[in-house]
Amino acid sequence: EAAGKAGYPHFMLKEIYEQPESLRQTIHGRVDSINSTIELEDFEDGAFTDVDHVQFVSMGTSNHAAMYAAAHLTELGIPADAYMAGEYAEAPRPTTENSLVIAVTQSGETADTLNAIRRANNAGARTLAVTNTVGSSVTRECDESLFIRAGPEIGVAASKTFTSQVIALTLLSECIAEDVNETTNPGRRAMLGELADLPGDIQQVLDETPAEEIADALFGCKSYFFLGRGSARAAALEGALKLKEISYEHAEGFAASELKHGPLALVTEETPVFGVITGEDDLKTVSNLKEVQARGAPVIVVAPASLERDLEFADYFLPIPETHSSIAGVLANIQLQLVSYHIADQLGRPIDKPRNLAKSVTVE
Ligand code: AGP
Repeated sequence: EAAGKAGYPHFMLKEIYEQPESLRQTIHGRVDSINSTIELEDFEDGAFTDVDHVQFVSMGTSNHAAMYAAAHLTELGIPADAYMAGEYAEAPRPTTENSLVIAVTQSGETADTLNAIRRANNAGARTLAVTNTVGSSVTRECDESLFIRAGPEIGVAASKTFTSQVIALTLLSECIAEDVNETTNPGRRAMLGELADLPGDIQQVLDETPAEEIADALFGCKSYFFLGRGSARAAALEGALKLKEISYEHAEGFAASELKHGPLALVTEETPVFGVITGEDDLKTVSNLKEVQARGAPVIVVAPASLERDLEFADYFLPIPETHSSIAGVLANIQLQLVSYHIADQLGRPIDKPRNLAKSVTVE
């Protein structure tokens, strides 16, 4: 086992540090940023022309990745929703083969997700698996598969697979929208240009992160909140999930807009609040963060490095390199993975195998 960790104290830390390389594998051969084209091996041009809406089904971290994709597709004019697979029985039924239901599952074995796909198959929908695991159950249940190619992930907490899911889904969403709209997203060239730099940006985060010092300052607290707007909300939810599962401390992520509708009552000087700033509507998140700070909460901001001066009010700052706003959340989550890891490490938790949890949840 020690050999498998390649000198890292935990598989999770090794997997966090593998992300520049695992992401290169995800995009390898699929993206031509010079010509602004995307080729997903099993999907010919026009493969998605008939799609009239998309439903994602997934759980946990995979559900947070699906939220990014649903937002991206919606922005490109394709109706899309991300459902928690375990709640899919309540979702509007996909009705025709033009309904595309996409299972997002690292392991390919999650019972809730497999059941949601069976329901979609029974309703006559077209089903597609986005997974890390070749030969997994989801690839047999779905009509088609796209592999995220992140390599094996041993730590129960998903890290590198999340990053690869978000990017594989971004590429898939671009292909779906291109076929349906019969035109390429005008913003694609800029996004693919930034995507080519993303492995290097991740390396910069890993090399320069202040996450360990921030974790050292915070780890005695008993409750942590994470907030963000739009796609930064998915980053906030994922930040909270990661922290709670490996540290055993209470952590909650919510939409920044929700703050004053309840969660603010919980905020004290004992509850650090993480704010994720990646988009254009984030000035409002800044004012929410000032509000919690006025109530004594330590504020930790994850944001592009260029905003550090504007965000000087924050008690701690986790910088991310400048990138396209639709993929910036990936960098924010890597900073939050590192903070969670170091808090859990300070608390002496068994990071790779948290109590009560399994790498794949095969029973509902
Ligand atoms: C992530 O850190 C968790 N271990 C968990 O939420 C996980 O993402 C979820 O169980 C879904 O797993 P899957 O991607 O294998 O379907």
